[in-house]
Amino acid sequence: MSLPFESTRCRLGLLIAGLVMLLSGCERPPMESVQHGYRGTGMVQVYNPRALELQVQANEIPPGMPPMDASGPKASQLYKNVKVLGDLSGAQFTRIMTSMTTWVAPQEGCLYCHNPANFADDSKYTKVVARRMLQMTQHINSDWKQHVAETGVTCYTCHRGQPVPSAIWFKSNPQPYGSNFMGDKAGQNHPAPSVALSSLPNDPFTPFLLEANNIRVNGPTALPSGNRQSIKQAEWTYGLMTHMSSALGVNCTYCHNSRSFQTWEGNPPQRLTAWFGIRMARDLNTQYMEPLTDNFPAHRKGETGDVAKLNCATCHQGAYKPLYGAPMLKDYPELAGPGMSTMKLAKQ
Ligand code: HEC
Ligand code: HEC
Ligand code: HEC
Ligand code: HEC
Repeated sequence: MSLPFESTRCRLGLLIAGLVMLLSGCERPPMESVQHGYRGTGMVQVYNPRALELQVQANEIPPGMPPMDASGPKASQLYKNVKVLGDLSGAQFTRIMTSMTTWVAPQEGCLYCHNPANFADDSKYTKVVARRMLQMTQHINSDWKQHVAETGVTCYTCHRGQPVPSAIWFKSNPQPYGSNFMGDKAGQNHPAPSVALSSLPNDPFTPFLLEANNIRVNGPTALPSGNRQSIKQAEWTYGLMTHMSSALGVNCTYCHNSRSFQTWEGNPPQRLTAWFGIRMARDLNTQYMEPLTDNFPAHRKGETGDVAKLNCATCHQGAYKPLYGAPMLKDYPELAGPGMSTMKLAKQ
């Protein structure tokens, strides 16, 4: 009579093993929750304190360099091929070159961008890209204050000590209609980290952070005429929203109220910051990244030959503010905007 008992035990064992496997994808409790809206609205942010601890460590900023003497001849007089940082003094110019090296290419050093025989030479693509990156950084800090405020960004915000930022994206390889059983898959059922391994379209960036498609999904009218909204379109929106949540390490109610994802009424102010963030990412991808396509070598490009582009995670890297709001920019006025170096330094 031991047989049924044995098999029950066996089944129980299997069940337990199955449960363990199922739960191994979950995070270990306890979690912490922080109220983020009016009491009773259920607007709560849930954090894993252990993951947060690691995040905080990963977001410590490298020590800055002391400011340098602004007097003496300008870089534009000292050097041959300076197009962006010409207003700096020689000492200040060397300081920003040294900082850029720490932020972007600490292992490779100055020669990551320079020809050792002639520092004025522009033959390395990395130098040409870096000059455009200087301009892009100045543009972000001076023209997108609605998003980056006075905190601003430096090269380190995206690069974190490596030539290629850890979060970049390429267009997904289109699978034309008829190339598989499913018709046009639209990148669905092809789980990718970009959409937290869900079955949502896995390139929600091309339509919204490169092209300016409509993100809002609720149509103003009930009938199809004049209402182009569809479930399929909503899936793209959810793909982007999933990316935004994971890029910032927050839940949906960090930006939305718990009653309606559509209305702007009663939303935390972060939603407006995010709205500007979407427009900023689109502007940077179209005005700075795409025009650099021909400068990049083939091995840096995507499957379809497109240039690497940025999204929310490129700067945020899992934090609600990049580097948890550490104001690195204040020590580097030359990155605050074109001409800012001379303006700020003249006051000192
Ligand atoms: C990430 C790329 C990068 C790194 C690394 C880098 N530089 Fe530069 N360097 C540039 C760019 C871009 C310019 C041109 C700036 C401009 O047009 O305003 C430049 C210009 C210069 C010039 C002016 C040359 C001339 O005559 O026109 C000197 C000198 C220089 N860098 C020195 C250095 C030194 C020293 C280091 C290492 C401590 C270094 N750079 C690291 C990108 C880089
Ligand atoms: C908003 C994010 C962002 C900021 C800020 C930024 N970069 Fe970049 N950078 C990128 C992206 C995205 C790429 C493309 C990655 C690639 O090279 O494949 C890139 C590429 C580069 C490359 C080419 C690296 C390679 O090996 O292909 C250099 C050099 C570079 N950046 C220098 C700089 C410098 C110097 C600064 C500061 C003045 C800076 N970047 C600021 C996002 C940024
Ligand atoms: C960082 C802020 C932020 C987070 C986090 C966020 N959203 Fe959004 N969401 C926005 C903004 C901004 C818009 C409007 C975008 C636009 O119109 O350009 C929006 C729009 C939407 C819309 C379209 C509403 C309409 O008017 O049709 C839906 C649906 C939505 N979000 C769902 C979500 C879901 C679900 C999550 C969590 C997975 C989420 N959002 C997380 C900022 C956020
Ligand atoms: C160029 C770098 C950069 C990119 C790209 C970027 N952000 Fe930001 N973001 C920042 C900086 C810097 C701040 C901090 C501003 C401040 O201190 O108020 C910030 C702040 C925010 C905040 C406010 C957080 C708070 O608690 O006040 C939200 C929300 C946000 N970003 C959402 C986004 C979304 C969504 C995207 C992508 C569509 C995005 N960001 C892309 C740099 C960036």
